[in-house]
Amino acid sequence: MRNIEFHNREKETKEIRAILDSRPTLITFIYGPINSGKTELITHTIEELPDEYVVFYINLRTKFLSSYDDFIESLFEMEMETEGASRKRKETLAELVSSVTKAAGIPITREFLDYVFKDNKPKNAFSYIIKLFEEVKNSGKQPVLILDELQKIGDVKVNGFLIYELFNFFIDLTKEKRLAHVFVATSDSLFMESVYSEAMLEGRCRYLLVDDFDRETTTAFLEEYGFSDDEVAVAWEHCGGKPVYLIELMNYENWEEKAGEMLVLRTGEIETILKRINELGGEIIIEDTKYSVSYEKLVGALKKFVDRETIDMNEVDEISKEFLVKKNVLFVDPLRKMILPQSRLELLAIREVIR
Ligand SMILES: Nc1ncnc2c1ncn2[C@@H]1O[C@H](COP(=O)(O)OP(=O)(O)OP(=O)(O)O)[C@@H](O)[C@H]1O
Ligand SMILES: [Mg+2]
Repeated sequence: MRNIEFHNREKETKEIRAILDSRPTLITFIYGPINSGKTELITHTIEELPDEYVVFYINLRTKFLSSYDDFIESLFEMEMETEGASRKRKETLAELVSSVTKAAGIPITREFLDYVFKDNKPKNAFSYIIKLFEEVKNSGKQPVLILDELQKIGDVKVNGFLIYELFNFFIDLTKEKRLAHVFVATSDSLFMESVYSEAMLEGRCRYLLVDDFDRETTTAFLEEYGFSDDEVAVAWEHCGGKPVYLIELMNYENWEEKAGEMLVLRTGEIETILKRINELGGEIIIEDTKYSVSYEKLVGALKKFVDRETIDMNEVDEISKEFLVKKNVLFVDPLRKMILPQSRLELLAIREVIR
């Protein structure tokens, strides 16, 4: 395996740095197709930040989240892990803060955890975090809160949905208290769509698209690892600018064959999805209501990509759209009001299937 360095992302990095340079005002939603490099961009940016920023990064991806307790536990998990049995000493908030390092979770004592869990009140947890951030601020540093894969708590309820409590909390941290920068990342474009149409977030957030590399960036990336002009053209033709796919190619001696295989594999997967719907039927739940998925409509939606790379948001019925997004075939961009395949590889696979 080759050791691949972080590549470019100059524009996005600049944008994030500019946000961090000013006072917290809006929540920043980082979105983009699957595997476009959102997490990589965030972790790289954190590593490069000067010491005056204290970053609290929480990735919900690998967490099992079915309840409020699960969420709070994951929020406070990192310090719980490092605390161990030997450190029973009670620490003041200020002491805790001084032990906080970059990219660590939020430090927490057992007593506090019991208090937070006791009444299932997110406000308890949030007021603790606010106190903690105030301490950080008082020590002359700037707190930054980053939640990766936030859509994972989409279904969690405490009285109402936890996500609304969180949005309120984020608004409080940014626009109201100007206390911390808040970044939320997600690869779930249906979640982004609901965020985008959420009235309570209107005028309180901004969006940052982290897309697959464009042609120019892809060329520079591949050339760094010895690809010739012609080879870049072939790689782009097959995989577009999705970093993971490009890295996959770099790691194969016989990479042109590999590119062909990747296309065959993805084509087969999409074919299977359609075949199952055609033969077995299928259902999808949207806002608590069950709908049946129509094979004809799915094919109709995919056909639109035969001679176009993007289509308008309204060209596909909601059921087919949700289904194809959930299957990671399509990506919805609510800001640009368009629907497109998750990557160039998906686009080619769709065209193969329709052919
Ligand atoms: N700028 C980059 N330079 C080099 N490699 C990158 C870059 N961005 C992403 N990658 C590679 O692509 C992989 C996937 O990126 P990453 O996990 O950041 O994507 P993501 O958008 O967060 O994915 P998901 O949609 O699953 O959350 C990384 O593990 C890394 O190998
Ligand atoms: Mg990610």
